[in-house]
Amino acid sequence: MKENNKSKKTFYITTPIYYVNDVPHIGHAYTTIAADVIARYKRLSGYEVLFSTGTDEHGQKIVSSAEKANLTPLELVDKVVLKFKNLWPLLNIKYDEFIRTTEERHIKVVQEIFNKLYQKGDIYKGEYEGWYCVPCETFWTETQLTDKTCPTCGRKIEKIKEESYFFKISKYQDQLLSYIEKHPQCIQPEVRKNETISFIKSGLKDQSVTRTKKSLKWGINVPFDDNHVIYVWYDALLNYITVAGYNTDKEKFEKYWPSAIHLVGKDILRFHTVIWFTMLMAAGIEPPQMVFAHGWWTIEGEKMSKSKGNVVDPYEMIEEYGADAFRYFLMREVSFGQDGNFSKDLLIKRVNYDLANDLGNLVSRTIAMIKQFFNNKIPEAVTKKEVYDIELEELALKTIKEYNTQMNNLSINLALETIWQFIRRTNKYIDQTAPWVLGRENSPKGRLSNILYNVAESIRLITILIYPFMPGKAKEVWEQLGMETDLDKLRIDRDAHWGKLKPGILVKPGEVIFPRIDLKEKEKEEVKENIVNLISYDEFKKIDLRVGKVVSAEEVSGTDRLLKLKINLGKEIRTIVAGIRKYYSVEKILGKKIIIVCNLQPIKLKGIESQGMLLAAVDNNGLALLTVDKEIAEGSKVQ
Ligand code: MSP
Repeated sequence: MKENNKSKKTFYITTPIYYVNDVPHIGHAYTTIAADVIARYKRLSGYEVLFSTGTDEHGQKIVSSAEKANLTPLELVDKVVLKFKNLWPLLNIKYDEFIRTTEERHIKVVQEIFNKLYQKGDIYKGEYEGWYCVPCETFWTETQLTDKTCPTCGRKIEKIKEESYFFKISKYQDQLLSYIEKHPQCIQPEVRKNETISFIKSGLKDQSVTRTKKSLKWGINVPFDDNHVIYVWYDALLNYITVAGYNTDKEKFEKYWPSAIHLVGKDILRFHTVIWFTMLMAAGIEPPQMVFAHGWWTIEGEKMSKSKGNVVDPYEMIEEYGADAFRYFLMREVSFGQDGNFSKDLLIKRVNYDLANDLGNLVSRTIAMIKQFFNNKIPEAVTKKEVYDIELEELALKTIKEYNTQMNNLSINLALETIWQFIRRTNKYIDQTAPWVLGRENSPKGRLSNILYNVAESIRLITILIYPFMPGKAKEVWEQLGMETDLDKLRIDRDAHWGKLKPGILVKPGEVIFPRIDLKEKEKEEVKENIVNLISYDEFKKIDLRVGKVVSAEEVSGTDRLLKLKINLGKEIRTIVAGIRKYYSVEKILGKKIIIVCNLQPIKLKGIESQGMLLAAVDNNGLALLTVDKEIAEGSKVQ
């Protein structure tokens, strides 16, 4: 990796800033953990590191979620941002900056750049006619579509026709191509770079970069036109230079920019290359050192989605397996850049084989032997080295070297594989040298000292190397080994050398660091949990379910989801607002007898009070209303 050519080694790494329309999931955790691993590694390598993450708080998507939650956009973002901020420390993430796009410092930068590009003639007024995907906050032209769904997420898109400001991306097409050619590392992995190049070569069209306030108010104001707000991506991308101190802290900016590495998911690579690089070029700022696109996680082989109910909640993972085991799994399971598959079984296997058997065992048996044979004192290597010792020491040196190369290439799963080969070799060394035999009474202790020193030294080195991945567990091992320096004060080039371990230090035998997960016990627990989830008949009886007939239906304006229904419940007519328009038209639902939850607290949707809820079954293909299978009077109780 390149560093800024200033006197100190500096390094800047970023995660995407996450939309706060919803709570964090495995995808957010994945990028943020990867960035934390790399940041910690760089700090260990003596760099001054700026690691930044944050939240993307403007745009249509936030507005829609706020409406659903009956909150203002500001209330929603202030609430959801905490879910992210509270999660990161629990996952052992140590960032330097957290940016929210609603902060004043950011708004200022966005407006400055917007003004600058407008003055320069790179932003101009026109009319946008095309399509927009709200979940992806993406504009699509007619030619990019095969039907009326979003090419990225497959969801319904909406037509837009309105006045808009445009950014002259087309002007920068050649400059962008030649920049990428001259900086082959700036988009990684290679295959993603090639995709980007072909996209650029297919022709760049000027990008709409504002929305009128008639269609969207929740955004940063265009500084010179009161009728427009800035497009959420145009605003969001600029967070990376806001954090680096653009126009506010010259020294910081020169120190960290353009050494930035942006980690992003593959789905948002194009924004981070085509739009971001050209925006910077237009503003006269050098593009970042690298944008690295990682792959996506499927869950037990399936796409993760709310409707499938398979979204992996990082809070739950921490609770069930601990932060470091989850971190280890995500970093180890797939090669960084490729897609991966998540399942609890795979995670448990990694915990049991790699963490409990290989590493945990190595640590616990070594500490136990030092306790038993040397009264807790790390022995001295006193006798001449034998062949197994030399092999172990040589492998340690090779491991550190390869690890450094792999970490610097962002081949982070390979770096773990390299460490684990060394862990396995150290375990084998113990088996080959059989210290428990040498430890028998009356045996000379010289050879035994050597062996246990070598193993303890291997564990010390392993702990330094795993620290970026599992900072919490590394600290536990470190303490059991009797080490007192803070792990984050270490430097690989100074401390990761064979022989630096000082004999005489007292080990501190403690708890098992990586307990095995007993699958049978786990299954039992899950069954128990399900039982806990059962409700009593009395609880069920509290729900007032009744048969109701749909006597009128109309579309709610300003949304494409909602229908306003009047339901005859025998003794009364209720109004219910339901988000089913995608599956049921007015004609299709009129006259149906359906099941209504009648004693639910009313809520307001689009200003209409909804006095109950209808019941429906949902699967991957859509939604089906619950009805009755023969004629029955309106208002009949369902029991
Ligand atoms: N706000 C934008 C980013 C702006 S950066 C200037 C955004 N936010 S997001 O909340 O939708 O975050 C998406 C991130 O999570 C992306 O990097 C995306 O690739 C990642 N993931 C979402 N689902 C994922 C998986 N199933 N697996 C891995 N990562 C995934 O986009």
